[in-house]
Amino acid sequence: MVDETTTIDRYGVMGYPVSHSRSPVIHRLFALHTGQNIQYELLQVAPEKLEQAVRQFQRTGGRGLNITVPHKNPVSRLCDQLSERASTAEAVNTLIFQDNEIIGDNTDGIGLLRDLAVNFGINLEGANILILGAGGATRGITGPLLEMLPKSLVIANRSIERARVIADCFKNSGPVSACRFDAVPVTEAYDLVINATSAGLRGETPPYPAAAISENSFCYDLSYGLKPTPFSVWARDQGAARSVMGWGMLVEQAAESFHLWRGIRPDTSPVLKQMSITA
Ligand code: ATR
Repeated sequence: MVDETTTIDRYGVMGYPVSHSRSPVIHRLFALHTGQNIQYELLQVAPEKLEQAVRQFQRTGGRGLNITVPHKNPVSRLCDQLSERASTAEAVNTLIFQDNEIIGDNTDGIGLLRDLAVNFGINLEGANILILGAGGATRGITGPLLEMLPKSLVIANRSIERARVIADCFKNSGPVSACRFDAVPVTEAYDLVINATSAGLRGETPPYPAAAISENSFCYDLSYGLKPTPFSVWARDQGAARSVMGWGMLVEQAAESFHLWRGIRPDTSPVLKQMSITA
């Protein structure tokens, strides 16, 4: 008799902490809906154990991993190959184990774009975009957003230096500039305002530039929670046309990872519905 448990392809999400992650639920739903027989685990791994844990997962038949905070940047050092988007983002959220090699990719940017374009029907061509924050998350989404040919992309940050470094890095890819929160240019309304700070994770609402929000602004918080995040509440209170959290990006980046691993792109709408997080 064949022991089927040994033939199930193993995947998982590695982070620290990781117990809050919704990735196992999402990937199990994708597997169910696409008829794929996979196992998806939650792997809490401290930073100093990262290399050992990744190599052990690979050695014991692991086929792929999602990588989350705080490992997205350090894990790139373990990769034999990096996709262009992972290398530009300086962050890896997906590992593929193939022919004894570790391939690092990043599906966060495309996940955000798909959520904006497909789930919310937003056209970014010619749009004025404001990103609040200049950390790893901003670095990951700036390139993909510029590829959509916006009219302008302003990166505003508490500390101007970090915003300048990212704007400088992408200056050949499109009309990107940097400023402080209190110096956001407001000569034209912003069509899209993205919160990429980690302030909300600590329940903080920094002095975001209220004048940047108009009744036409679509506000998107990369953070998400069961309750509205401080930024999404703030943006709604400023009179934004719409204020949403990043649940859709989470599901869409997962779908892209699933596609890389299994060659099948799952339909995300039933998963968004099933998680009761539709827009
Ligand atoms: P991530 O990888 O999630 O982007 P990060 O690299 O630590 O995390 O970046 C966090 C971002 O949130 C930074 O832009 C940070 O601003 P600074 O560069 O000035 O530190 C921003 N941030 C975090 N807490 C904040 C707060 N209370 N007020 C304003 N900005 C904050």
